[in-house]
Formats: sequence, C-alpha cells, structure tokens
Amino acid sequence: MKSCVVVLLLLIAKVIAADRTFTVNNNCSYTIWPAIFTGSGTERPYYATGWEAPASSSVSFAVPSNWTSGRIWGRRSCNFTISNPAEQCADGGCNGGLECDTDGGTGIPPATLAEFTLGTNGSPDYYDVSIVDGFNLPVSITNDVGCGVADCPVDLIPNCPSALVGPYNSDGEAVGCQSACEADLDGDQGNSPNCCTGNYSTPATCPSSGVEYYSYFKDNCPNSYCYAYDESSGTALWLCASNLTANYIITFCPSP
Ligand SMILES: *[C@@H]1O[C@H](CO)[C@@H](O)[C@H](O)[C@H]1NC(C)=O
Ligand SMILES: *[C@@H]1O[C@H](CO)[C@@H](O)[C@H](O)[C@H]1NC(C)=O
Ligand SMILES: *[C@@H]1O[C@H](CO)[C@@H](O)[C@H](O)[C@H]1NC(C)=O
Ligand SMILES: *[C@@H]1O[C@H](CO)[C@@H](O)[C@H](O)[C@H]1NC(C)=O
Ligand SMILES: *[C@@H]1O[C@H](CO)[C@@H](O)[C@H](O)[C@H]1NC(C)=O
Repeated sequence: MKSCVVVLLLLIAKVIAADRTFTVNNNCSYTIWPAIFTGSGTERPYYATGWEAPASSSVSFAVPSNWTSGRIWGRRSCNFTISNPAEQCADGGCNGGLECDTDGGTGIPPATLAEFTLGTNGSPDYYDVSIVDGFNLPVSITNDVGCGVADCPVDLIPNCPSALVGPYNSDGEAVGCQSACEADLDGDQGNSPNCCTGNYSTPATCPSSGVEYYSYFKDNCPNSYCYAYDESSGTALWLCASNLTANYIITFCPSP
C-alpha cells in the first residue's frame, strides 16, 4: 500500500514535471554545428550546448518543461582548432568552441535563431524564428500538437541586398544576410530606427516602415521575427498552450 502511494506520487510528480522532447534535424546538404544557449536562472536542456550535425542527420533530447529562456541556432563552416570564436566558424560561433559556454556562449550574428520560452504556471509556450540579428540558415519550428509553425524556410542569402550580404566562408561563398541594424546602415546603433534604440526605442517610435529592408525579410519569411518590435505583425511570435506539453522539432534547411 505504502509503495503504491509512493509510486502514485512519483507518477504525479512526473506528469507535473514532464519533460519535452526536442528534435534537431539538419536537412541541409552540408554539415552544420548546432548550438544551444540558455538564459541565466533557468533549467537547461539535457544535451550538449553544441555538436556537429552532418547533412541529413537528426538528434533528439529531453528539455525540462521549465526551460524558460533559450535559443538554438546553427553554425556554418567551423574549424574548432581555431580558438577565436569570431574566426572558428564563418558565422554563429560562440565562446567555448564546439560546446558553447553556459555563460556568455551566445552566437555571433548573423544567425537565424529558434527561440523558446516554455510556459510554466499556466502560461503558454512562446517560440519564434528570429532573424532580428540577421539570417544564416533557413529554419523551421514545428510541433506534435497542432500549434503554429514558426519558420524562415527560404534561403535569404542568394538575393540578399548588397548592403547586407555576408560574411563569407574561406571559399568566398556568402554564408549570411545581416539585418540593417547589425550592418549599422544608419551609422549609430545607439540611436537607430533600424535597431529600435535611443529615440526609436518603443513600438510607437520604431515602426517596421522605418526599418531598412524590412520587407525583404518579412515578405520572404512572413512567419519569422524580423525586427525588434515585429510582434505587431501577428505572425512573429507563436504561442502554444503549455498544458499540451508540445514536443518541438527544429529543422535547418526545411523543404520550402
Ligand atoms: C524546474 O522544475 C523542476 C521540477 O519540477 C524543479 O525541481 C526546479 O526547481 C525548477 N527550476 C526552476 C529554475 O524553476
Ligand atoms: C583548421 O584550422 C587549422 C589552423 O588554422 C588548419 O591548420 C587546418 O588546416 C584547418 N582544417 C581544415 C579542415 O580546414
Ligand atoms: C534624440 O533626438 C534628440 C533631438 O534630435 C537628440 O538631441 C538626442 O541626442 C537623441 N537621442 C539619442 C539617444 O541619440
Ligand atoms: C489548457 O489551458 C488552456 C488555456 O491555457 C485552458 O483553456 C484549458 O482549459 C486547459 N486544459 C486543460 C485540460 O487543463
Ligand atoms: C527533414 O528530413 C527528414 C528526413 O528526410 C524528413 O522526414 C522531414 O520531413 C524533413 N523536414 C522538413 C521540415 O523538411
């Protein structure tokens, strides 16, 4: 009897704390090096913070339901014998090398980000594909419970405006398309309508119409987060009731 109660309590605890399963697919035709960064003060996924993903490979791992601040992105053209994070990958490199540091191991832009805030205490899960800090790989976030698809499935590099294209890998191929903010087009990132800073730091003073090349990104990738206040588009930030305990699938180079 007593052991039944213990088993029951354990089952209840398990249901309350049910982990999610995240799957990361590399559907690109080349190797990438995915990375995970977790904000401070939250639980972490039960997986390495960086790994090598050959073409057409997939990994799955458990993520605690209270992973309330995290992002996953892909790095291109890496060589970890080079220690400088700005040089070891053509883009997306982090402090720490193959496995990003748990403190400060964020990726170097431009990098397409799959961002997550799993919901606790009745709040929904929030997720998005952000190209606010530029684009380096097509990415989609799907799920197994019928919630919306966040994605930027189009390769934005071939037609990237010349003012934004880059960086390049050692073969001279462009591997990124920077945001107007990141490219510092208006020459003052601290007071910029592209970055939504200084006199342009509110949704009212930083409309998408003031962001250079916004429509290039949003027209091609309407279901992605394209500038700091893109929530107003209605298709930037995605919600999924946390009691559905969605499992998420992040795919690099999804079929368009
Ligand atoms: C996350 O949930 C687990 C299991 O319920 C709990 O032990 C842990 O304290 C929680 N962590 C945070 C940061 O709330
Ligand atoms: C990686 O970088 C090291 C140091 O620059 C270099 O010697 C090596 O050839 C590089 N490896 C590849 C596969 O490019
Ligand atoms: C905001 O605009 C005013 C007037 O043009 C200018 O003096 C001020 O420096 C600007 N603020 C910032 C943060 O640059
Ligand atoms: C799940 O949450 C939604 C809103 O977040 C609520 O309307 C619904 O009743 C909940 N369902 C269950 C089974 O708790
Ligand atoms: C990724 O590739 C797998 C295996 O080929 C395929 O089943 C899946 O549908 C692809 N995913 C996307 C989003 O394109």
